[in-house]
Order: sequence, then C-alpha cells, then structure tokens
Amino acid sequence: MLRTHTCGELRSEHIQTEVTICGWVDSARDHGGAVFLDLRDRYGKTQVVASPESGQDLVQEASRLRSEDVVRVTGKVAARPAGTENPKLSTGQIEVRISRLEILNKCKTPPFTPGLADLPGEDLRLRHRYLDLRRPQMQQTMILRSKIIKTMRDYFAENQFIDVETPVLGRSTPEGARDYLVPSRVFPGRFFALPQSPQLYKQILMVAGFDRYVQVARCFRDEDLRADRQPEFTQLDLEMSFVDAEDVMGIVDGLVARLAKELLDLDVPLPLPRMTYDEAMERYGHDAPDLRFGMELVDCTALAGQSDFRVFRETVESGGRVRGLNAKSAAAQFSRKRIDELTDFVKQDFGAKGLAWFRVENDGKLWSPIAKNFSDDWLAQLAQQMGAEPGDLLFFVADSWGVTCKALNGLRKRLGSELKLYQPGAMHFSWVVEFPMFDWDADEQRWAAMHHPFTSPRPQDAALLDTDPARARAQAYDLVINGSEAGGGTIRIHDSQLQQRVFDLLGIDADTARDRFGFLLEALQYGAPPHGGIALGIDRVVMLFGGLDSIRDCIAFPKTQRATDLMTEAPGEVDRRQLEELGLRILPVTERP
Ligand code: AMO
Ligand code: AMP
Repeated sequence: MLRTHTCGELRSEHIQTEVTICGWVDSARDHGGAVFLDLRDRYGKTQVVASPESGQDLVQEASRLRSEDVVRVTGKVAARPAGTENPKLSTGQIEVRISRLEILNKCKTPPFTPGLADLPGEDLRLRHRYLDLRRPQMQQTMILRSKIIKTMRDYFAENQFIDVETPVLGRSTPEGARDYLVPSRVFPGRFFALPQSPQLYKQILMVAGFDRYVQVARCFRDEDLRADRQPEFTQLDLEMSFVDAEDVMGIVDGLVARLAKELLDLDVPLPLPRMTYDEAMERYGHDAPDLRFGMELVDCTALAGQSDFRVFRETVESGGRVRGLNAKSAAAQFSRKRIDELTDFVKQDFGAKGLAWFRVENDGKLWSPIAKNFSDDWLAQLAQQMGAEPGDLLFFVADSWGVTCKALNGLRKRLGSELKLYQPGAMHFSWVVEFPMFDWDADEQRWAAMHHPFTSPRPQDAALLDTDPARARAQAYDLVINGSEAGGGTIRIHDSQLQQRVFDLLGIDADTARDRFGFLLEALQYGAPPHGGIALGIDRVVMLFGGLDSIRDCIAFPKTQRATDLMTEAPGEVDRRQLEELGLRILPVTERP
C-alpha cells in the first residue's frame, strides 16, 4: 500500500503517530511561510501542513501544488492549534505536519474544481465525468446506490430468490417503448433488440420451475427522456410462482422497510397503504400521488352545473368536470402576479383553458375577479364544499376529466412544494392497485395495454373483456414513493384462452403474437405455474432515497436528455467496413423519412 491511512481516518488518538496518506489537493492556502493543503479522497479530507520546521524546500514544493494534483504525504499527526479546529470535518481536530511530500501526478488546470461547492454546468460535468464523480456529493450518491443494491441482494437471497442473468441480445419485448436494435453480422438484415426489461425471460424461468427469480437488470428504452427517465436504466426485477398480488406486494413491503431502516434509519409500518387507481385519480388526479401532504382534489361538477358562469356550465353540459383544491392559508402568500403564473403554468404545461380562483376573506366570504358570475348562495355552497376558512385560496379547473387530472395534479405538486407542506427529508411509500387493463389509444383507434399484454385481469373482471373493456381492472400494482412511480408489476395470464382474448382486444393477431413472443406462448403451454412479479427502477429508488432531483445524478455514466454520452461521444460513427459486414447503408440526410 502506498498509504497507511485514508484521508477520512485520522483522529485525536492518532496524534504523534507517523502516517502516510495519499489524495487529491482539494484546496491550498499559502500563509506566508506555511502552506496548508486539504487532501481529499473518497473517505474524507485531511489538512496537511508544510511549515518552516518541514524545511524550506518542502514549503516551496508545497506552494507549487495546485487543485487536483495527486500527492503522497508522510508526517506526524498533530493537534490543530487551539481555535483552528474544524468541527465540520471528521478529521477537523488534527493535521499532518509534512516531513515528506511526493507528487504522484500533476493535474492539468481542471475545467472545474470538484472541491468547490458551486455546481458547474451539466454538460461540462458530463464531459469530464471523472472530475464530476470526484465531488463528495456524487461519491455519496454512488455509495448510497451501492448500499441499496447490496441491501436488495441480501434481502432476496435471504428469501430464497435465485439470481439469474438473462440475455441482453434478444428479441423485442413488450414494454411498448421503441427498441434499441443491434444488427446481426451473421444474418445481415436481422436484428437483436436490447431488452426493455427481462419480462419474457423471467416468465419462462417460472415455467422452468425456478419459483423465485431476482436480477439487477439493465434495461434499454428509446423513449423521450425526462428528469426521471434514462434510455439505459437498471431494474430490480423479480418474479414469483404460485402467488397472488398481495404476496408480491408483501415481499416488496419487506424490502422497502429494510431499505428505509438500513439507509435512512426510518421505521416504516407495514403493510404499506394501498389505494386503488380510481381512488388515486379521483383524490389526487394522478396514478402515483404524492402522499407526503393532503390538499386533495374536490369534485364540484354538480354545483358548477348550477351556476351561470359560462365556462363552468358549458364544461358540465359537455360532459366535462369541474374540480378544485383548497390551498389552506395560502391567500397571503399568493399575489395576483403569482396566481397569474400558476394560471400560465396549468395552461402551458397541462393544456388547461384557465384557472379559476377564489380567496376566502376574513368574514368567510369568497372573493374572486369572477365572483360576480355567481350568487351569494352559490358561493356559500362552494365554500362549504371546499372546507373553506379565512385565508384559504381555492383553485378550480373546468375541463375534460383527463385535463382536470393533469392540471390539478401539477398544481397540487407545485403548491405542495412552494408552500412547504412536507419536511425536506419526508418519505412516503404506498401502493396503487387495480389499474385499468387498457388505455384507449385515440390516434390508433384501438386499446393499448396499460402495463403489458401478459397482465391478468382481476378474476371478477374477466367477463368485462367481452362487454366493457374500459372497466376491466388488472391485477396490477405500482409502488409509489413521494409521488414517483418507483416500481410496477402484475400477476400474469397463464391461461392461453384468456391470453388470446387480450391479444384480440389489443389488435395483436395470431401471426404477430407468434412472431413477437411465440416462444413465451409456447412455453406457457408446457405446464406454466400461476405467476407474477414486479420491477423497481433502481435509479429512481436511489434518486428518491438520496433526495435528488435528477436521475442523471444517480448513474455514474448517464446519457444526456438527447440520449448521448458527452464523455465518450457515443453514439459514434462506425467505419465503412463495419457497415458492409452488417449489410447496412446509411441514407443521406435528405433521403431519410
Ligand atoms: P415498467 O415498465 O413499469 O415494468 O418498469 C418498472 C420500473 O422501471 C422504472 N423505469 C425507468 N427508470 C428509468 N428510466 C426509464 N426509462 C424507466 N422506465 C421504467 C420505473 C418503473 O416503475 N417488466 C415490467 C415489470 C413487471 O411487470 O414485472 C416492467 O418493466 O421505476
Ligand atoms: P374568461 O371567461 O376566459 O375570461 O375566463 C375568466 C376566468 O376564468 C379567468 O380567470 C380564467 O383563468 C378562468 N377560466 C377560464 N377557463 C377556465 C377553465 N376551463 N377552468 C377554470 N377556469 C377557467
């Protein structure tokens, strides 16, 4: 070893010991005659000092050091002079008086300094990710990620799960995003698809009798990216045989409690609360509601239909809904200007046509620029329905059900954060269950699977597939953490007739089904146990447990929003020979569709 200790290790009990430590120069301060350096490594920071006692040459050499040079220092540990201790550092009681200094490597002037608190632009961080990853915050996140994965692996091993790796080069899977394709050299014109998830393989492992499967699996989806989506991400993927939805949720409940305890020292009562999809949409406008705070949506459609306000009445007459929420005690904090900003927000981001609002005055009466459209009696009824008290601010959106959901969910989340309705470190875990089987795809004029085509309806809803597919509910469950979908899974269909019926509804004809997942359908005919499972998004779990805003901060080498890697400059061009071998030709830009 080149060192006796790390930069996070030395304490008062080491005083008088001779040590050797290695690290990066985090900061250097030249105090005329004495040079103070902070050396940094993964474990922490230690102050080292070159003073006249160390000899003039050494002081001179130390004064030439710059940020991010890599050095090795030998010296005696000493107590810091009284009054110069740093209680913020775990090593803040001591310093190392340098007797030997070795420059292991010089650093070019870095484009940004990892030791500084201010965050450089994200492009620069991604371009020089090795420097960015030196930042203590990034190192903590990567350590958190590693601990989360270890806790997951331990938990599943203790619960008789078998870790099985599934191929990355395979066939297109059914998650519904665009595939990343890999051309075959051996069969020009044919392609592998990178897995969107190990879905089909894990079902086959159940047919193969593995009973309990788990994998930390890399997934690839070529879809529009957002703050919580990456084209390449990692799932904790599992599947179980002879189980119902409660069994799968029960196993994940245990995992959540274990993660919360080990990583955040939180006691999470089990079972985690469950809410149906219909209830979540009605009360919060979203299938992954943020339950760290209340502020539930209130349906005022019936009352709105009795008003003379054109916007409300016409919406109700055309089958739409008028829903609102009560921002308790928020009136004083929201000027007209801020309310206008909220109005623009719901219009621009969620396609609402407007945002009606009322302020509750001291006498309990409602005031609004649109109040003149309503009778006093009507306003009093509205106040009562909304539980209005002086100082409250009421907001309403009149629109189709879907737009009221999106706009009010967006508004609710924004108000929850702006009004600080929850503690910064608060964590809320819950399940949303009984999702619809299908979504109506208006563009394609057909049903689409809300989860994937192998999802089983609730037994009592199987008949609805023939009569009213929109009402059929699935044996599906999503794990929700702080308003984010952290995981999703279902009980699968193991009956080939029922599977055929679902394919029919989805417009997947027999040939397409055989072509796309014939191997699974075949396997299911050779003695398939009832089975189901779930996948958690590990990157998202890290983001939520770490209290981070961007999924890119939870992945060592992430892609940008435009799905590129700025450090390696992938995707890159390939040479003509490679294309020829693959039988591929690149169309000039002008000829591309
Ligand atoms: P699903 O598609 O819901 O289910 O994915 C499971 C979880 O993976 C995470 N996730 C993502 N994370 C980052 N970037 C993405 N692009 C991304 N897409 C999904 C989410 C999500 O909840 N095979 C099924 C699981 C099953 O039925 O067992 C599946 O993949 O946290
Ligand atoms: P207008 O009649 O369009 O001038 O709107 C009058 C007020 O009602 C404005 O404050 C709008 O923001 C609000 N408003 C308009 N359309 C809607 C709607 N669909 N839902 C809620 N409020 C609306």
